[in-house]
Amino acid sequence: MSDPTQSVEDARRRELRQRLAAAEKGGGEARIERQHGAGKLTARERIELLLDPGSFVEIDALVTHRCRDFGMEATTVPGDGVVCGYGTIDNRLVYLFAQDFTVFGGSLSETNAKKICKVMDLAVENGAPLVGLNDSGGARIQEGVASLGGYADIFLRNTLASGVVPQISAIMGPCAGGAVYSPAITDFILMVEGTSYMFVTGPDVIRTVTHEQVSKEELGGAATHAAKSGVCHFTVANDAACLLAIRELLSYLPSNNLEDPIPGTSQDSPDRQEESLDKLVPDDPNKPYDIKKLIHAVVDDGRFLEVQAAYARNIVVGFARFANQSVGIVANQPAFLAGVLDIDASHKGARFVRFCDAFNIPLVTFEDVPGFLPGTQQEFGGIIKHGAKLLYAFAEATVPKITVITRKAYGGAYCVMSSKHLRTDVNLAFPSAEIAVMGPEGAVNVLYRRELEEAGARAGEVRADKVAKYREKFSNPFIAAERGFIDAVIEPRETRPQIVGALRQLSGKRQSVPARKHGNIPL
Ligand code: HXC
Repeated sequence: MSDPTQSVEDARRRELRQRLAAAEKGGGEARIERQHGAGKLTARERIELLLDPGSFVEIDALVTHRCRDFGMEATTVPGDGVVCGYGTIDNRLVYLFAQDFTVFGGSLSETNAKKICKVMDLAVENGAPLVGLNDSGGARIQEGVASLGGYADIFLRNTLASGVVPQISAIMGPCAGGAVYSPAITDFILMVEGTSYMFVTGPDVIRTVTHEQVSKEELGGAATHAAKSGVCHFTVANDAACLLAIRELLSYLPSNNLEDPIPGTSQDSPDRQEESLDKLVPDDPNKPYDIKKLIHAVVDDGRFLEVQAAYARNIVVGFARFANQSVGIVANQPAFLAGVLDIDASHKGARFVRFCDAFNIPLVTFEDVPGFLPGTQQEFGGIIKHGAKLLYAFAEATVPKITVITRKAYGGAYCVMSSKHLRTDVNLAFPSAEIAVMGPEGAVNVLYRRELEEAGARAGEVRADKVAKYREKFSNPFIAAERGFIDAVIEPRETRPQIVGALRQLSGKRQSVPARKHGNIPL
């Protein structure tokens, strides 16, 4: 005689298989084909490429929406347009969600938002990074405020997770309206070229309101956000490249704010001297050179992961390792706008510094800065408050801080760029360093204006003489070194061993800030 409980169980197993198969299929073959036709992978294919093989564990595959309007009761898809769960990247735990554009355009329903919130909570509770793969038509139109509430629930969690676990957003399709604010709160945004876009209001609304004609790509494509708005940190050629880039980025980061980044595996000698660096900084102080040559020459195996490479190119930020220890590098770029600090460079640098500080990543600063960019555009734009962000960020950072002045360290910018006075631990200078209130030409114009006017035809000769004297007196690292503002003047070739030594010395650093709810950085 057959066991009736057995047949119920078999039926349940059958049903489970059917439901899971439906979740797996998402919006069905035709929509998957459309997704592929648009040059995009599906949510599940993306997860497969992102995680270590076989490590994905799905959560909430059977969740469906609860909408009963607009005929929605007839159309449920298990999973409801987002695939959530956890897995490993290089054997380290990560939580993730991947919006499935083949199901209701990946739009955010009440239940779909709950799934995302669940993995966000798990990421924070378990101290693991959160990765969001975004590809969505925005709020689920049929659900109205229930969907909007879901967004706000996510924003709250993004905010509370900030500085606790790294949060990474990949934009791999549409991301529009208020939906952009979740990625905006996260630490890093990657955008896929040609298939992704982000904007608060799209081209149609803009045309109606301001009569401007602009394409989606021009308004919110990867290139725009990489170079113009600075919203995006990395652009990538396609989905596969995007997922690989996330893996690389995570390799430099700890899993949470209580851990250190995992060490690298480089064989590059910590004592390696780089003779070419002795000739890197030109004799002529007004001649540019590429600071990235210095960075590549001194870090492990020349590997430098630049962040926001196309935005505010007068400052260079990114991750590298010294003797296998992860560091954040901040460097003025003399090859672009002479390495001047302006509004964009200030907030680019400040946000990066604060990320590194929140996640125990030591900061290495290479300084060659002629000052802040003059002009009405900068003053009207608020260079005072924006420049203050960078200063504030360096000042509050308690991770090990090392600064190497390669050439100019002029004026306020000297103070800002992780000077000794901002609790920087090790301050080094090349012999070519010039540390002064301003450059020789500017200083002579201020100090000897009358004398130069009176010199008439001899003004050029007098100016040259004064400039030479000023340079001899102030444009060197020795006055700062005499006061201990510079700990040592080093040969450029020694830069790598010097930084490695400093990092070792600082490995047990403990420093705190006064107890308070939070500071009030000039936002
Ligand atoms: C429900 C949606 C949807 C949405 C797309 N779909 N967006 N369903 N809610 N928001 C569905 C479509 O009906 C379609 O279903 C499928 O997803 C694919 O959409 P298509 O339009 O066929 O795709 P495509 O041509 O690639 O265009 C993609 C798109 C477009 C540009 C995203 O779908 C679009 O404009 N959607 C609406 C975008 C929007 O206005 N969202 C609300 C923004 S406001 P079928 O069944 O045909 O496959 C917002 C507020 C958030 O998000 C506030 C937070 C604070």
